Amino acid sequence: MNNVLITGGAGFIGSNFVHHLLEKEPGVRIWNLDALTYAGSLENLKDLPDLERHIFIEGDICDRPLVEKILRDHKIDTIIHFAAESHVDRSIEGPGAFVRSNIQGTFSLLEAARKVWLENVQLPSEEVRFHHVSTDEVYGSLEPDAPAFTEDTPYDPSSPYAASKAASDHLVRAYGYTYDLPFTITNCSNNYGPYQFPEKLIPLMILNALQGEPMPLYGDGKQIRDWLHVEDHCEALLCVLHKGQVGETYNIGGDNQPTNLEIVQKICALLDELVPDTGVSPRESLIHFVTDRPGHDHRYAMDISKIRADLDWGPRYDMERGLRQTVLWYLENRDWLDAIILEKDYQSWLTTNYERRGE
Ligand code: NAD
Ligand code: DAU
Repeated sequence: MNNVLITGGAGFIGSNFVHHLLEKEPGVRIWNLDALTYAGSLENLKDLPDLERHIFIEGDICDRPLVEKILRDHKIDTIIHFAAESHVDRSIEGPGAFVRSNIQGTFSLLEAARKVWLENVQLPSEEVRFHHVSTDEVYGSLEPDAPAFTEDTPYDPSSPYAASKAASDHLVRAYGYTYDLPFTITNCSNNYGPYQFPEKLIPLMILNALQGEPMPLYGDGKQIRDWLHVEDHCEALLCVLHKGQVGETYNIGGDNQPTNLEIVQKICALLDELVPDTGVSPRESLIHFVTDRPGHDHRYAMDISKIRADLDWGPRYDMERGLRQTVLWYLENRDWLDAIILEKDYQSWLTTNYERRGE
């Protein structure tokens, strides 16, 4: 891994990964291709440890000539593909962008890789890798007592987002089986941590609580996610890139499965402790239950025994430490938060998603 193309590296996980890679891998140069949609921001890349080794390219993964040129000109040996539309509620509101970026975008990258890596061979095939970053949502929803998802769980996506990610996973595998494209795939559970756009549960709740705004829980708030700190995800990705077997899929998760209500209560308690002197206390009084998300998956849980046994990876953060670190990060980075919510269509999204939900 010398010359790496990261797609979507101005988004939440991608930007955390750029920081991580620059810190951990002194020999690696990064080309970061990102279209800077509402979810991507150069604010996420302001404090990089080594600017010399990071080149940002504003562009779309669907622009195949551009992707081919990047692969060729910079002798890219590794693609780490994060770029996607990632928010389930937005996929319900407007699925078209998800089909475009997540399916056509992945197809465009695969075609570029096929052409540059496999047809006009520049590098031996043992030296190239297409790593696809995917989600546990492809597996659908678990019944309360069902065992956790393994890599062999059949796909059963519920939302347009999950379906588009499932399609992209299938495409990546098909390029491996048909054209011998060297690939790995990771399916990961819900991430949280620094630089997450405040449309997702944890940063949205932190921001609303700080502003004294209602904290909207969908349905009964008893849904379960398997939360993973983003630093743990970055370590897992690096581990798969170094030690993962080509052609294999690895589940990544946090071994951490509270209900949404429990998470939001923890956020309230942390803020009551860390920022006590505001008009609203206890913050729990801001929690209110609103109309559920259509097709809402009730429960996710990841079986991570494969990555533990084969690659010796496991999460380091427990939720207690991870949430505290995250809440502190948002408190210490109010400038980032203010810039992000001013920069993009944030307010109009809140109106679209929340005003139509009754109590
Ligand atoms: P994000 O929405 O924060 O960031 C996505 C980034 O991709 C943005 O910077 C955006 O500008 C860019 N992008 C979108 N469409 C693009 C296009 N057509 N061309 C170029 N760039 C484009 O997403 P995230 O939460 O960081 O997720 C990153 C990846 O990880 C996604 O593939 C997502 O499916 C997957 N994932 C996310 C989670 C999670 O909890 N957030 C969990 C598992 C897997
Ligand atoms: O599981 C991995 C997936 O996790 C990723 O693939 C997605 O990109 C990522 O967005 C995330 O999807 P979720 O839908 O689980 O995340 P979100 O933060 O939107 O919601 C988490 C839970 O909280 C879910 O059960 C819905 C609920 N929720 C969410 C919001 C935004 C609320 O109750 N209220 C809210 O306002």
